Amino acid sequence: MQLIDGNAVAQAIIRELTVSVSRLDGRRPKVVFIRVGEDPASVAYVNKKAKVAADIGIESAVIALPQSTSKAELFHHIDVLNTDASVDGILVQAPLPEGISQNETFNRISPDKDVDGFHSVNIGKLCQEDETGFVSCTPAGIVELLRRSHTDVEGRHVVVVGRSLIVGKPLALLLSRRGKMGNATVTISHSRTRDLEAITRQADILIAAIGRPRFITASGVKPDAVVIDVGINRIPNASRPSGYQLVGDVDFDAVAPQCAKITPVPGGVGPMTVAMLMRNTMKAYLKHR
Ligand code: GUN
Repeated sequence: MQLIDGNAVAQAIIRELTVSVSRLDGRRPKVVFIRVGEDPASVAYVNKKAKVAADIGIESAVIALPQSTSKAELFHHIDVLNTDASVDGILVQAPLPEGISQNETFNRISPDKDVDGFHSVNIGKLCQEDETGFVSCTPAGIVELLRRSHTDVEGRHVVVVGRSLIVGKPLALLLSRRGKMGNATVTISHSRTRDLEAITRQADILIAAIGRPRFITASGVKPDAVVIDVGINRIPNASRPSGYQLVGDVDFDAVAPQCAKITPVPGGVGPMTVAMLMRNTMKAYLKHR
């Protein structure tokens, strides 16, 4: 069994980006994060993204809004950033408070600044295999992890567990498109799939993105499969100083011995998402200047 080290791969990409940014003349790339409320996971993710941006030399700012923020107020912030020529990328951290539509919010961001790749224009471009759009960061990170761990997907059966806008749907589009790191046969399964294990056991490459702790067990994985664990679930653990522990959607201890390659949680897909966000910010900058 080979452990796919997401931290190491993400660090390599961050180093490459740091060199590219250092060679720019004039203004530096800039990304602005908007977060609504104090969801601890969202606070941690946004802080992490801002720190990595700073390490690379990408400028960033965080707009932290209260949970009580109205849709009109949130959209006002987005509109101001859309017209600010010094801002290349805008990211509104999900989840949003109840009553503010995620889709409407993502579609409010200028498609040219949509470094998350969630705007319907960018999802549409992905569907059309038009490379001028932005690809969502977690799916792009998974493809990069597969590529840099020499995992060929062409003609192989990829089973994605989870159908979200953020991971499952764009990932299926990416892996099934024509060309390098594409041409896979992709099945999307989800919480309503009948006899899920019968499906996941067929996977040459199994990608778990369902958001349920240790949901995939040994009986759902074909021997010698490649397993990518996208889940980041916080479960209570009194013996940790934080009071919680992060676990994936895969029961790692049970599954790891029987697979060819597997990503850990933490240290697998998570750092790749952040690295891909930085790459998208660079792409946005190059479009704008
Ligand atoms: N919430 C969980 N993952 C993501 C992500 O990749 N982008 C944003 N904006 N919110 C998220």
